[in-house]
Amino acid sequence: MKLNEFAKLFDKELRKHLSGIEIYEPLKESVSYTPLLGGKRLRPYLLYELAQNTLFGSERALLTGIAVELFHSGSLIHDDLPSIDNDDLRRGKPSCHIKFGEGRAILAGDFLMLYPARLLSSIELPCISKQKLLEMWSISALRVVQGEYADVTPSESTEEFLDFIYDNKTSALFGFCFAAPYILDTDSSRENMYELGMEFGRIFQMLDDIKDATSTMEELGKTPGKDLKQHKLSILSFLSIEEALVVAKRRFEDLTDRIAVHESLVHELQGMYEILIRR
Ligand code: IPE
Ligand code: IPE
Ligand code: MG
Ligand code: MG
Ligand code: MG
Repeated sequence: MKLNEFAKLFDKELRKHLSGIEIYEPLKESVSYTPLLGGKRLRPYLLYELAQNTLFGSERALLTGIAVELFHSGSLIHDDLPSIDNDDLRRGKPSCHIKFGEGRAILAGDFLMLYPARLLSSIELPCISKQKLLEMWSISALRVVQGEYADVTPSESTEEFLDFIYDNKTSALFGFCFAAPYILDTDSSRENMYELGMEFGRIFQMLDDIKDATSTMEELGKTPGKDLKQHKLSILSFLSIEEALVVAKRRFEDLTDRIAVHESLVHELQGMYEILIRR
C-alpha cells in the first residue's frame, strides 16, 4: 500500500479509536488534538507494511500503530513546550500548549505517552509474545525520554553524543516499529529488524536536522531554523548540508540493500526518500 493511501485508512481508525477511548471526558479534547492534526504516519505505516509479511497481521499492526502514533504525538507535545524546544507550530497548526495552555498540554502528553502500554496489553497475542511486545515497548519508550533529556541537556558536543541522542530520541521508536511485526517469529529475526529500524531512525533524524536548515514553514508545518538558533547538537554541527545529504543518501541505500527481502517496502521507501527530504 502507498503511504498516502495508508494514511487515510489509519486516520479513520485513529479517529474511531480516540472517540471510543476510556478517558476522563474533559481531558479528551487536548489528548485528541495533536494526534488528529495529521502528520506523515510513517511509523504506523512501516509497522503495517512489515506485518504483511509476518504472522502478526493487519489488525494487530493497526492497533500497535495507533499505540506508537499516540506516543509519538505525546512526545511531540512535550518537545514543543516552551521549556524544551519552544515551538508554537506543529503539523501546520498551533502546538498543543498554544491551543490549551501549558498545564493541559503537559498532561495530554503524559496521557498519550502512558496510554500505549494499556492499548498494547489489550492486543490478542499468546502470553509469551505479549510479554515480549510489552518489554520491547517499555524499553523503546523509555529510550525516547532519555534521548529527549540528552537533547535538551547535552553533556558534550561530540559525534558520539549525537549518536546517543539519535539512537534514543528517534531510532528506538523506529526499532520498535520494524520489530513488533516479528514478535511471533524468532528472537534473532526480531532483533535483526530492531537494528534495521534503528538505522532507519538515524537516517530519518539526520534528514529532519537537514530540513530544519533548508525547508520552509509551509513544507515542515513546524518552525524552521530552530536547531541553529537554539544551539542544538545536530548532524549540521559536524557536516555541511551537502555532506550530510551525501551521508544520509549513502546510508539509506545501504539500508535498502539490507531490507531487500521486503521488496514492496523498499520500493515505497525509495519513493518516500524525496518526500522525506522536504517535509
Ligand atoms: C518528528 O517526526 C519528530 C522527529 C523524530 C524528527 P515526524 O517527522 O515523523 O513528524 P510527523 O509525525 O510527520 O508530524
Ligand atoms: C525529535 O527531535 C523529537 C522527538 C523525538 C519527540 P526534534 O526536536 O528535532 O523534532 P522536531 O523537529 O521538533 O519535530
Ligand atoms: Mg527536540
Ligand atoms: Mg523539536
Ligand atoms: Mg527537528
